[in-house]
Amino acid sequence: MTAPNHREQTRARLRAAAPAIAPSILLCDYAHLAQEIERLEEAGARLLHLDVMDGHFVPNFTFGMTIVEAARRCTELPLDVHLMMERPDKYVRQFREAGADVITVHEEVCRDQSELADLVATIRDLDALAGIAINPPTPLEKIDQVASNCDLILCMSVMPGFGGQSFDRVALEKLSTLRDRPDVDAFLEVDGGVNLETIGECTAAGADLLVVGSAISSGNSYRERFAELATRIK
Ligand code: DX5
Ligand code: ZN
Repeated sequence: MTAPNHREQTRARLRAAAPAIAPSILLCDYAHLAQEIERLEEAGARLLHLDVMDGHFVPNFTFGMTIVEAARRCTELPLDVHLMMERPDKYVRQFREAGADVITVHEEVCRDQSELADLVATIRDLDALAGIAINPPTPLEKIDQVASNCDLILCMSVMPGFGGQSFDRVALEKLSTLRDRPDVDAFLEVDGGVNLETIGECTAAGADLLVVGSAISSGNSYRERFAELATRIK
């Protein structure tokens, strides 16, 4: 039997962890990134969510491949890289080479589902799990043909760009619809405004991976915040 490729190994790790909190490092102290990642890992993180923003697709700018490389040097955890950028096709190879294990691109930057399907194929060919993300206003119909042929579907519960926004419940309806589709075996992920009040509804609706930014970063201890959130996961 041939050894499983990296993509299958990542899939198995996420399957074993789900439902799992995916802390976003968006609000971390970048002057101490290694220590921050170590604290998140000690708190119980089974993967890390890295928010890449290009200042065009979203009205904010964060980091690129260099921070992904830095995170890769700090941890063995799967790196779940969320590309909030206009031209992900130009950079997916570099993010994979930087150490991304999951690479998620937005439906909204693609002309049509065939372009999105091509991006998924490119990411899979790089031996990473391929994710597709949709913003709150984007209907599921926009990904109905690709949904059964990707590795992760990220239902945004905020408009991307900033942490600390309020949860948009439209994500719950999308999660439930996708969970009930027998042809969809992608991980279901939700991102934005996930906190003590909303996290239980997200897993009840079918979310496997729960991105948490401010709900982890607020307060004095990652470990305490993580433990509180974990008790709410159904
Ligand atoms: C927003 C990012 C989210 C954000 C989550 O554009 O994609 O990952 O960091 O932060 P909270 O949990 O504070 O909404
Ligand atoms: Zn994100």
